[in-house]
Amino acid sequence: MKIAIINGPNLNLLGKRETGIYGTMSFEEFLPSLKKKFAHITISYFQSNIEGELITELQRVGFEADGIVLNPAGYTHTSVAIGDAIAGIKAPVVEVHISNVHAREDFRKLSHVSAKAAGSIFGLGLKGYELAIEYLVSNK
Ligand code: DQA
Repeated sequence: MKIAIINGPNLNLLGKRETGIYGTMSFEEFLPSLKKKFAHITISYFQSNIEGELITELQRVGFEADGIVLNPAGYTHTSVAIGDAIAGIKAPVVEVHISNVHAREDFRKLSHVSAKAAGSIFGLGLKGYELAIEYLVSNK
């Protein structure tokens, strides 16, 4: 089974960025524990700060992976094109947000991704990625 994790803009700064909201662990530090927990599946990881690169990666893995865990970060709230990409691919997408986007500024309550995703997880920190993979594995 193949799962692709895709992180959007500024998530390369996890561990350094607004640590009161996003915590002190970088994704590179977190990823090995995920890979260890799900040793029986292949997990790929891609991060970009560029909207078009995220879309290209969604299209690339969208017909070969069994599931995608996507944190579109700030593009969640602005990108019709990322929503369209999710609608156009085969693999189910679980939307993950580290923070509780509904407990923050109003503009974070709008997601162009949620309606196209299999489901969404927010506010559970990095644990959300693990729960998303568990869902994708159990629904294979
Ligand atoms: C985020 C929430 C977004 O609103 C924000 O722009 C991010 C991260 C999260 O993981 O909580 O960059 O997606």
